[in-house]
Amino acid sequence: MSEETLSNLLHENRRFEPPADLAANANAKADVYDFADSDPLGFWEQAAERLTWDTKWERVLDWDNAPFAKWYVGGKLNAAYNCVDRHVEAGHGDRVAYHWVGEPEDDTRDITYAELKDMVCQAANALTDLGVKTGDRVAIYMPMIPETVVAMLACARLGAPHTVVFGGFSATALRDRVQDCDARVVITSDGGYRRGAAAALKPAVDEALEQCPDVRTVLVVRRTGQDIAWTEGRDVWWHDVVDGASKDHKPEAFDSEHPLYVMYTSGTTGKPKGILHTTGGYLVGTAWTHWAVFDLKDDDIFWTAADIGWVTGHSYIVYGPLANGTTSVMYEGTPDTPHKGRWWEIIQNNKVTLLYCAPTVIRTFMKWGAEIPAKFDLSTLRIIGSVGEPINPEAYIWYRENIGAGRAPVVDTWWQTETGMTMISPLPGVTAGKPGSAMKALPGVSALVVDDEGNAVKPGSGGYLVLTEPWPAMLRTIWGDDERYIDTYWRRFEGKYFAGDGAKLDEDGDIWLLGRVDDVMNVSGHRLSTTEIESALVSHPTVAEAAVVGANDPDTGQAVNAFVILRESALSEGGEAGEDMIAELRNHVSKEIGPIAKPKSILVVSELPKTRSGKIMRRLLRDIAENRQVGDVTTLADSAVMDRIKEGIAAGKEDE
Ligand code: WT7
Repeated sequence: MSEETLSNLLHENRRFEPPADLAANANAKADVYDFADSDPLGFWEQAAERLTWDTKWERVLDWDNAPFAKWYVGGKLNAAYNCVDRHVEAGHGDRVAYHWVGEPEDDTRDITYAELKDMVCQAANALTDLGVKTGDRVAIYMPMIPETVVAMLACARLGAPHTVVFGGFSATALRDRVQDCDARVVITSDGGYRRGAAAALKPAVDEALEQCPDVRTVLVVRRTGQDIAWTEGRDVWWHDVVDGASKDHKPEAFDSEHPLYVMYTSGTTGKPKGILHTTGGYLVGTAWTHWAVFDLKDDDIFWTAADIGWVTGHSYIVYGPLANGTTSVMYEGTPDTPHKGRWWEIIQNNKVTLLYCAPTVIRTFMKWGAEIPAKFDLSTLRIIGSVGEPINPEAYIWYRENIGAGRAPVVDTWWQTETGMTMISPLPGVTAGKPGSAMKALPGVSALVVDDEGNAVKPGSGGYLVLTEPWPAMLRTIWGDDERYIDTYWRRFEGKYFAGDGAKLDEDGDIWLLGRVDDVMNVSGHRLSTTEIESALVSHPTVAEAAVVGANDPDTGQAVNAFVILRESALSEGGEAGEDMIAELRNHVSKEIGPIAKPKSILVVSELPKTRSGKIMRRLLRDIAENRQVGDVTTLADSAVMDRIKEGIAAGKEDE
């Protein structure tokens, strides 16, 4: 982000005070900050009482072996019991856990906590019969259907860490994740509904498993009824083994540090990182933040409009809300199917009170026009949240005015796959929100903006966001790679967690997040690695070299922009660097990683800007992608290369 944008942001002086009734009845009031500041571990002990522990912990935090944390040391609990059984035991079995909304109209299911408990127990019994034991990894590759939640909770109940792979990822991405965590069982479905049609999932599993010989079982939910290939002896229908299984299943209490799940995310190298979350601390962190940031009350209807395949879905569709006994909405499809008012219709029909979504979709709604939501009754909404990337003030104001009726506070929540839970956010009953700022670290969380040397910057200056104290839902390591865990997060600033984000403190000491400072892009609120996309491009036979940069994009936050050098052979075979070739390369990336990684633009160049040590200077390519004057070129090995690249691009444009 340029200095100019920075100073514009900091001239933002609109403030939105919490509504008086919300402030008066808020779950978390100003004194929570005082308590947590004076006794952070005491604060997290109190937060842990939200859960039901089989054995109470002996010590809140063990940080002796930093950066490897243990939270609620010696405590034992079962995550699924906490999310489901205990609510039924408390007499809330009839409460709806999910108002599930399928994409085809009128395809809805309400699932109560009692029904959810039965389904989870049946699935746990079925998985046990299929040989799944405590500690085994199970991969889940599913659409947004209730069985996805059931599968996750059944794994949690057995202490078998799940790894949910986003259904939009390709067979290659699925294969890499299954291999990395050595999953032996995959749970999937024939397909799901997207944009009005049945989209297949099972073929990608079949393709991925050609190279995963250790997977012995594929459990398949029938969702669309489409034709699928079947591997005898390996594939099993969910309805054959789960529906008839016993509804009795005794949950075993696991150590607080027992692995709950692995979620893969992009880093600065091509290899995705398996972020490991464990049981006790993660549940405490997600449950407390969900309750405080959304001021959750018994009669609230909560909707996180995200996919379960991302961490937002794990923390705020599944674990946080269920631990709190919440009634949630879960929606299978896209916002414009069958019409552009689908979300608002869902809110109206289900009387949603709390909405959580990403800036990229808010900007899409802005483009579609305020007259669409205006046709629906959104008056039940009382708090609206944002997550995934910085929300620009314009989108914030539009969201507040047109969705929140100028009344509902916007909570801009900053967190990451690694943090597991929201870390920086307004508290809706306490904080006067500023459009574009995530405001302050939540109680019990310590965030700082530091300079290159790791010293805290003064209000009014920018730097890097770091977290200075451990927190309960923090990642414990990168699956199978403790060294990479230390190198990635704890080496840059001694004793501090480096998040990879730039940030600025304003004069009031409030935090403004400014995006990634490493070679990681944020496209539509999802992290993508430049290197991973470069490797995908280079794996195509016509590409010799590739450089990928994230350039600012009005819709998706950042967009993938690629620069490729083609192989001599590709050019000499008459392979024009024409539109067909570009389309083929875009599809190739989509096949290797998934449609989300498809470059928005691919420019064919004859050389790339490099330093003398051979490192690609992405900053200069970003200048081109963002149509700016190219910046300082003095560290280039060949200072004329940028001129030649620009000439080449201009010549290419004239040809068109
Ligand atoms: C990165 C984490 C957290 C779930 C979704 C993304 C960016 C996230 C905000 C926000 C500014 C944000 C950061 C962060 N980010 N929320 N409210 N304001 N930036 O999870 O894929 O792990 O990505 O998303 O750059 O590091 P993720």
